[in-house]
Amino acid sequence: MTLTGKTALITGSARGIGKAIAERLAADGAKIVISDIMADAAETTAEELRSRGVEVIAVAANVASRDDAIRLVETAVAKFSRLDIVVNNAGITRDGLMVRMSEQDWDSVINVNLKGAFLVTQAAAKLMMKQRSGRIVNISSVVGRMGNAGQTNYAASKAGLIGLTRAAAKELATRGVTVNAIAPGFIQTAMTDQMPEAARERLSEAIPMKRLGTSEDVAAAVAFLVSEDASYVTGQVIGVDGGLLMS
Ligand SMILES: NC(=O)c1ccc[n+]([C@@H]2O[C@H](COP(=O)([O-])OP(=O)(O)OC[C@H]3O[C@@H](n4cnc5c(N)ncnc54)[C@H](O)[C@@H]3O)[C@@H](O)[C@H]2O)c1
Repeated sequence: MTLTGKTALITGSARGIGKAIAERLAADGAKIVISDIMADAAETTAEELRSRGVEVIAVAANVASRDDAIRLVETAVAKFSRLDIVVNNAGITRDGLMVRMSEQDWDSVINVNLKGAFLVTQAAAKLMMKQRSGRIVNISSVVGRMGNAGQTNYAASKAGLIGLTRAAAKELATRGVTVNAIAPGFIQTAMTDQMPEAARERLSEAIPMKRLGTSEDVAAAVAFLVSEDASYVTGQVIGVDGGLLMS
């Protein structure tokens, strides 16, 4: 129970990787703020955790909205008096070849994946700086480091998150706040379930470990980065990708 007494807010945590992160940090002893644009699903996930004895609230919020991001952080603090951990996990894809990509698909992916992380981090950082402690983890992607055809918007948002991580890490380092990123490879979730079976098989072949990852694989890396053991780790990008990108 390394996180006893800590409060963790995870965006996009109604399902998928975010939910697994919430479950893992709860198992490690943290109080949890489930947050998602899907209000009902967020409440259902929070209820699941509550039934296991976790202190948890659900907050419906669209991370791409500045007002929502501020309200989200304020609600977390009003409930639990402090905020120790923020995981910027909310993300979307709107795939398509660049030459045909609409401006709207570009904007919506950048607004949720990159601007959303900025808005939530900005709201939380003010508080963490006063606390002189905090842990921020941004969920990037291997695609932000390698690129991927059909995902210029997504790749740009996830590469942008790495820049945001490093710049924020430098700004917050003397305040006891660490900022790191995780770059998952291909993880079995609703996002990858949308891919045709043949494409998923081809993908697995390219992964040295010959399998997609699990949400729990990602959650374990988050658990390390938010723990005391990682207090001298900041501005880093940890790949959780079965060896797909070695750098
Ligand atoms: N699945 C993968 O293979 C994979 C690989 C690398 C990175 N990632 C990243 O991991 C994160 C989680 O992905 P996932 O596979 O669990 O996807 P998912 O679609 O299952 O979950 C994403 C969650 O974010 C929520 N969300 C979407 N827009 C939001 C908004 N504007 N405000 C608040 N919440 C919003 C969704 O409602 C959903 O609950 C994403 O950032 C994704 O880019 C996923």
